[in-house]
Amino acid sequence: MKDKATIILDIDNQKQEYNYDILDSTRGPKAVDLRTFYSDTGLFTYDVGFTATAACSSRVTYIDGKKGELRYRGYEIEKLVSKHSYLEVCFLLLNEKLPTKEQLMHFDIELRHRSFLHEGLKNIFGAFPDNAHPMATLSAGVTSLASFYFDHLDIKDDIEYKEMAYRLIAKIPTVAAFAYRHSIGTPLIEPDINLSFTENFLFMMRAYPHNNLKVTADGQEQINPIEIKALDTIFSLHADHEQNASTTVVRSVASTGAHPYVAVSSGINALWGRAHGGANESVIAQLNMIGSVENVEKYIKKAKDPNDEFRLMGFGHRVYKNFDPRARVLKKLQDELKQTLKLDSHLMEIANKIEAIALSDEYFIKRNLYPNIDFYTGIILTALRIPKQMFTAIFVIGRTVGWITQYIEFKKDNQSKIARPRQVYKGK
Ligand code: CMC
Repeated sequence: MKDKATIILDIDNQKQEYNYDILDSTRGPKAVDLRTFYSDTGLFTYDVGFTATAACSSRVTYIDGKKGELRYRGYEIEKLVSKHSYLEVCFLLLNEKLPTKEQLMHFDIELRHRSFLHEGLKNIFGAFPDNAHPMATLSAGVTSLASFYFDHLDIKDDIEYKEMAYRLIAKIPTVAAFAYRHSIGTPLIEPDINLSFTENFLFMMRAYPHNNLKVTADGQEQINPIEIKALDTIFSLHADHEQNASTTVVRSVASTGAHPYVAVSSGINALWGRAHGGANESVIAQLNMIGSVENVEKYIKKAKDPNDEFRLMGFGHRVYKNFDPRARVLKKLQDELKQTLKLDSHLMEIANKIEAIALSDEYFIKRNLYPNIDFYTGIILTALRIPKQMFTAIFVIGRTVGWITQYIEFKKDNQSKIARPRQVYKGK
């Protein structure tokens, strides 16, 4: 027997019963299928912020917020990132299986060849003011890609989906690095086709023109393999996160039939916000503002005060009501890197004190507020010499594959519809 839900409406002393199917899931909650609820009853369901609404069915990413579990295509995140590179994770998300050695090599080569930007596109960087935030330039740059590759709005087949996916995954790091270089007034560094995905990004961020040795002005030579591994892990941890705000935006824009690059750049804009991907930049700003271990108690008090808007950045999550598993991986990574990279010990002390107090404080325990991924990325990224205005762009680079995978899933789902929520009207 299939599970059913019965809803009894009691309106004007008249009781009416409605039956709905319960949709199966392979993991996590099933869902009451309310698609005909409005036409059946003339009523809307009210769910601000979609806290109890499944807007699609998906096979990409699964989160168990109570257990603190995250899986990409069924693989547990901790195991996946300990054994596989970011490009393998990208391949897994796009193809539902990990690549063979040969498939990985081809995928890698395809991306390297697409990492260059059209000469015309490079001109747009000069149009932005000095000091423009790289996220604004990045979003504009990705939207502009649609004008350089405007074949048609509707992708016809898997070859075209693949081309779109490869182009975006390969070019977005270049747009991000160029956006940064422009913001500090240094020459743009072209991708180096001989370098791996992650090393190439660090190269475009750090190198000086015509300097094949990749030696930076402050005498730091080469790009340390530990740095590449750390950033690669950060990209993998950001690769997808089911129906979060920016992915919901990508799917909504996709639902209108807009160009896929524009859908992704809309995701970039949504990610920028402090409550979402922008939190990583805010965490470091907040740690600097707190300034010393002695001040931590004062700011914890502010975070708990219902009349104060201050929030502890990098804490809390809509879905995780336990430790964010991505934060667990990063905390371990941070400890490992302590030996080899110059991690800011002063900021780490402040962060450790915040974490210790918050994890034992009634306010945070009662509300299930745990450190999230953004609490740890900043300190590691700073040690990788990534400036804080680029933190959210790093999130973008990692998340691009997730947005694309979800975009393709949406487009191929014959139950997809234009996103069009309703409202409870309270006006005149
Ligand atoms: N500091 C202090 N109190 C908090 C915090 C925080 N960071 N987060 C939530 N609360 C309190 C909030 O005031 C509320 O208390 P009360 O019940 O007394 O009104 C309660 O916890 C529930 O908060 P909410 O805002 O209703 O929860 P939400 O699920 O709508 O919001 C969130 C989730 C991530 C937006 C929120 O926790 C937050 O603003 N955190 C700080 C920003 C942050 O770190 N964002 C990164 C999220 S992880 C990266 C990503 O995937 O985007």
